[in-house]
Amino acid sequence: MPNTFHPTPPNSHLLFQRAERVIPGGVNSPVRAFGSVGGTPIYVTEGNGCRIMTVDGQKLIDFCCSWGPLILGHANPEIVDAITTAAASGSSFGINTPREVEFAELLCELIPSMDKVRLVSSGTEATMTALRLARGVTGRSKIVKFDGCYHGHSDSLLVAAGSGLLTGGISSSAGVSPNVADDTIVVPYNDEAAIREVFAACGDTIAAVIVEPVAGNMGLVEPLVDFLQSLREVTSASGSLLIFDEVITGFRFGPTTYGTLIGIGPDITCLGKTIGGGLPIGAVGGRADVMDALAPLGAVYQAGTLSGNPVAVAAGMATIKVLKRDRPYDQLGELGEILQSGLNAAAASAGVPFHCALKGGVFTPFFRSAPVARLDDAKQCDTEMFGKFFHAMLERGFYLSPSQFEVGFVSTAHTRADIDAFVSAAGEAFKVL
Ligand SMILES: Cc1ncc(COP(=O)(O)O)c(C=O)c1O
Repeated sequence: MPNTFHPTPPNSHLLFQRAERVIPGGVNSPVRAFGSVGGTPIYVTEGNGCRIMTVDGQKLIDFCCSWGPLILGHANPEIVDAITTAAASGSSFGINTPREVEFAELLCELIPSMDKVRLVSSGTEATMTALRLARGVTGRSKIVKFDGCYHGHSDSLLVAAGSGLLTGGISSSAGVSPNVADDTIVVPYNDEAAIREVFAACGDTIAAVIVEPVAGNMGLVEPLVDFLQSLREVTSASGSLLIFDEVITGFRFGPTTYGTLIGIGPDITCLGKTIGGGLPIGAVGGRADVMDALAPLGAVYQAGTLSGNPVAVAAGMATIKVLKRDRPYDQLGELGEILQSGLNAAAASAGVPFHCALKGGVFTPFFRSAPVARLDDAKQCDTEMFGKFFHAMLERGFYLSPSQFEVGFVSTAHTRADIDAFVSAAGEAFKVL
């Protein structure tokens, strides 16, 4: 495949112009518009392993990996086989299938805090269902979320911090009713004192705390020691539910959830991305007594025409079986460390204020020297410099998630040579910023 770089790739440019006429903003998900890095969004025709091909003939090594689902890379033969075999037997029935039972059994076996699980079609649906369930079970209406965590685009979760810690939040999107936003309390991530203060003041009104146990939507931010444990303590003490949103972290650091790995059992876990192997899926699962509050057993309504879709379930089950069998997590972590140390050294030698945050094979190139523990820290990053870095890397044949406040993923399809090439290209890129 040729590898020609065009600063304004003509075919992508034309497609984007056509798209803008018929798709709002030209994209089906906002960040794809390159709004925070500038330039023309690329269009892709194929992917194989860790490589993608654009309509302009540029071959790129992909570190976005569909924002997480592709832990096994593009078009992994085992996943393709599972998908084609399932599709050949019918792509949707709206009737129960044996495979969804097997998949639910597999998830519950690998995640001890999950007695029962309901499959949905996206991460957004999973978190939205989790909140309704928590409200239904507790009879309370307030939700606590953390600044900088993203949990999909349902109304209760598109909320930014209000004027004070104990005031309700404000809508972060037009169209979210102030009343809904008012029921969401937004607290700084990693701030144990703040969460204890909120629970001391109004713990008995809080239905649930929802958190990304490792945050991935303000760039990669690890939880401080004791932060997650403190959430478990305050929620248990006040009769609210703890929801771990593991849409990114589930099956990312081990063949289970992050909660399982650190020994903290939330009441509800939300999954997505990796558990669909690149097809649309989500899951919400947890304690049997909580899950049984869902219809048809309980009074909390939730449903979906394509829930448990046989093709998506086949892709997800194949992915999880590969992860369980091959346990590639040391390999992902080792490649991640080479990437991290290489980027840090290259940035230091170019005199660029920078550090690469890393957990396993998940990373964020932060354009700031000091560590990032919460959203206010992340906002101090030089986003303009990130934009220049993004384009300098694109020019050199590497695709990163197009925003400073996102994560990159190393997949099992990336090799040591791919990581070395990335580090060496970054060394050149840092010098031209
Ligand atoms: C942590 C987290 N939760 C939920 C979601 C929403 O998932 P989806 O985009 O599948 O609706 C995302 C999406 O990026 C996410 O990162």
